[in-house]
Amino acid sequence: MAKAKIGLYVLLFSCFFQPVVGGVQASEYTPLMQWTEEQYGTTVSKFDEEHKNLFRFVNQLHRSIVESRERSIVKHNLDALVSYVVEHFRSEEEMMQSKGFEGYEAHKRSHDKFVETCVNLQEQFAGKYSKTGT
Ligand SMILES: [Fe+2]
Repeated sequence: MAKAKIGLYVLLFSCFFQPVVGGVQASEYTPLMQWTEEQYGTTVSKFDEEHKNLFRFVNQLHRSIVESRERSIVKHNLDALVSYVVEHFRSEEEMMQSKGFEGYEAHKRSHDKFVETCVNLQEQFAGKYSKTGT
């Protein structure tokens, strides 16, 4: 999922450039990320389904940005994505612990760092637009 994580970072940062990338018509929208078995399949159907959901949240946010939706909608989609990321990570961590996965601690730190980045971006996004009132 390394490519997926990079895509998430790009998307999260792009929230700040919404006016620059905006203006795409709804009919022209191309999803930012598409789940495929060969690229992202894990052999664990529960996580494959969660990753597909994650991609849907990513694309929902991306679409609201490129179509220049109101910032409140972008914020809603950003919050929804981050909430799902947190939920998904918790699900993965529970599975790793129950299976005694030896790389658990390192993976948990990676999750925690990513969530921290997400939360910082949420705060920056909310702060930026509450100051300007736009
Ligand atoms: Fe995952």
